[in-house]
Amino acid sequence: MTPKPVVLPKLPTDLDQNRLPQHVAVIMDGNGRWAKQRGLPRIMGHQRGVDALKGLLRCCDDWGIPALTAYAFSTENWGRPLEEVEFLMTLFERVLRRELQEMMAENVQIRFVGNLSSLPPSLQTEISRSMADTCHNTGIQFTIATNYGGRQEIVQACQAIARRVQQGQLQPEQIDESLLEQHLYTQGLVHPDLLIRTSGEMRISNFLLWQLAYAEIYVTPTLWPDFDRTAFHQALLAYQQRERRFGKI
Ligand code: FPP
Repeated sequence: MTPKPVVLPKLPTDLDQNRLPQHVAVIMDGNGRWAKQRGLPRIMGHQRGVDALKGLLRCCDDWGIPALTAYAFSTENWGRPLEEVEFLMTLFERVLRRELQEMMAENVQIRFVGNLSSLPPSLQTEISRSMADTCHNTGIQFTIATNYGGRQEIVQACQAIARRVQQGQLQPEQIDESLLEQHLYTQGLVHPDLLIRTSGEMRISNFLLWQLAYAEIYVTPTLWPDFDRTAFHQALLAYQQRERRFGKI
């Protein structure tokens, strides 16, 4: 049997299929401002933010980008008003429960990264279920950073490695970049080639500090709920114009 040709529906003709990022990371900023501009409560911005994220996931899948990671909740976001934090936790849980079947049907592999053990137990249950149910899927790798902090991720990796040294399983000289990577939450995922941040802020905000070392950064003034296919197309065009040197000349 001849293998089926790879079909990439609707990839805009001005994008080079062979130079697409293999992993896109996104800081979904501007939900609050989007709501405020419309006289709505901030939580409505988060609600609309879910639709934007679903749209981007589908677009990556359609255009042949095999991995997407979204920053949903940082370790610093606990400092927000309690009602907003509670709303977000309930929203994550509700979305997971509602979307899991469709994600399964679309062959999405879901992974959550972050300090998941401090999340509400009912959310942890949905997270575990979504990861277990989709772990053998072979489609797009969709990673959601929740209660995630880049520094915290590196610290927990160091602690895990130190324990192995203490137990005599490892010599300090054996610690190298590849070993540290194996102890990161993102173990097994290729590093993002492109980081997109919406709403104009030019910061990394403790997101994937290790993994973004050589990512191209694209910042757009568009607020996250408005980030659609057209905005993503612009980001990819900008990405394809960059010359990636990885420290060389
Ligand atoms: C930042 O905007 C956005 C967040 C902290 C929450 C992002 C979460 C979602 C879009 C929901 C994703 C859902 C799932 C299931 C993964 P902001 O509130 O800081 O906006 P502002 O800077 O305008 O105030």
